[in-house]
Amino acid sequence: MSLREKITTLISNYVLFHIVALYFYLIRNPNTQEYFESNGILYLGDVSIDYAKDFINGISSTRYWMKVYLQSSKTGESRLRRDASKFDRPHTLLSLKGDYIVSKSLVWMQGEDWKKTRTKFVSAFTPSKIKHNFDQNCRAKVYARCGGIRHIRPLNLETASLQTCGPSRFEQLSAKFVFSFDNFGNWWKPGFIQWFPQIATYFKITIIDKEVTEFYRNVGQIEINNSKEKKEVRDKNDFVGLVHSTWQELYASHVVDRPDKEEWITANLCGMVLPAYKTTQTLISMCAYVLALHQDVQDKLREEVNALFESNGDEFNLAAVSQMTYMDMVINETLRMYSPIGVVGRTCKTKYAVPDTTLVLKAGDVIFIPLYGLHYDEEYYPNPGVFDPERFSGASKNFTFLPFSQGPRNCIGMRMGMLETKIALCHVLRNFKLTPSSDTLIPMKFVNTQFPGMDPE
Ligand code: HEM
Repeated sequence: MSLREKITTLISNYVLFHIVALYFYLIRNPNTQEYFESNGILYLGDVSIDYAKDFINGISSTRYWMKVYLQSSKTGESRLRRDASKFDRPHTLLSLKGDYIVSKSLVWMQGEDWKKTRTKFVSAFTPSKIKHNFDQNCRAKVYARCGGIRHIRPLNLETASLQTCGPSRFEQLSAKFVFSFDNFGNWWKPGFIQWFPQIATYFKITIIDKEVTEFYRNVGQIEINNSKEKKEVRDKNDFVGLVHSTWQELYASHVVDRPDKEEWITANLCGMVLPAYKTTQTLISMCAYVLALHQDVQDKLREEVNALFESNGDEFNLAAVSQMTYMDMVINETLRMYSPIGVVGRTCKTKYAVPDTTLVLKAGDVIFIPLYGLHYDEEYYPNPGVFDPERFSGASKNFTFLPFSQGPRNCIGMRMGMLETKIALCHVLRNFKLTPSSDTLIPMKFVNTQFPGMDPE
């Protein structure tokens, strides 16, 4: 990091952030405590601005609230699924409706726009599509990488995961995307976009780094040109083809084309690849970390992996990978302890009486679900700081285990993220023994960033 970057990060983290915190403190509702207590909710004080760390330590006040909310006492069924129609992803804390890129991506879309786009995108993540992708792409390329061969990779469903030897251009851009949230120069943008959305849209202001949007704009443009000239019949099970064909199916048949085709495609390429990349990267890294620290688990997992290869004539196939039960247990326990996303949010769309309490939520109320608080709750996970894959040997955890969240707004790429992680671990364990080095952080520390994902140092 250059000196200039260090100074700007320092100012944004230690000065500006606290000014914003002070602003929110001054405009806070003084009756918050009363409101919680009158509704029978344990109030532990304001959620710290360092929320990610708090969630790791499980001390967020919302944790107590969500315990009530998440579980239906009668059926044990998750309310994130059952009452999903009453909630949506929050827009109210920081509205980016004026951001001409972010507002068009699936992650930020709301209502009907989100519903029809998600329905199209989801068709690329069904088990049969994942299998198709696995058969077509994974085998040959994964072997090539393990042999250390570097080659230009196509931007497709698998590009979002496994790593080659050094940071590629793609990886540098992904890092840039995350750091753009911490950049002092970009701090004025979220505020400006929030308060002057129309001006922001007019001047095409976005919080995403210019280099990142340019990269995805070019990738999208090549696809648009190709399809115009019919140069290439593209396999739809690929991010670029998927986003482009979705746009065509949703908007191209209209009497007048939406004028923002290029931006919509850019937004959804960023909005699909970047959440996929960072999260899967964190999960794979954290699996390697826990395996290095727990040789007994590593040996047992290696036995399972070797047995898989031996029973399949040294081949790799999806059915066999899906049957590795110990692999699932190890990954789930890693996800419990080191969830790549620490918190998810919901906005209440209509009046909602929280079952089993006197609390009635109003439309517009925002709820945070601190995944770490839940995953480290002694009631569900005794000795939560201890890595123990056996916790996941029994029945599924339902509402107490939410690394990919639940309900209609859950993670669209869950199957893909899990599969990529399994493939990576199979190949690493077959070829290497993982051990901690003198640089290994014990316990792990996370990068202090404003980005809602957890990034191990
Ligand atoms: C270990 C890997 C991953 C983890 C832990 C993870 C976790 C999550 C979480 C917690 C959410 C928020 C859900 C909510 O608000 O309820 C989410 C949303 C999302 N994820 Fe993932 N994710 C992973 C991999 C992926 C992959 C591989 C893709 C794409 C291929 C992906 C694409 C998305 C998208 C597009 C959304 C927004 C969905 C919507 O708003 O409809 N994620 N993810």
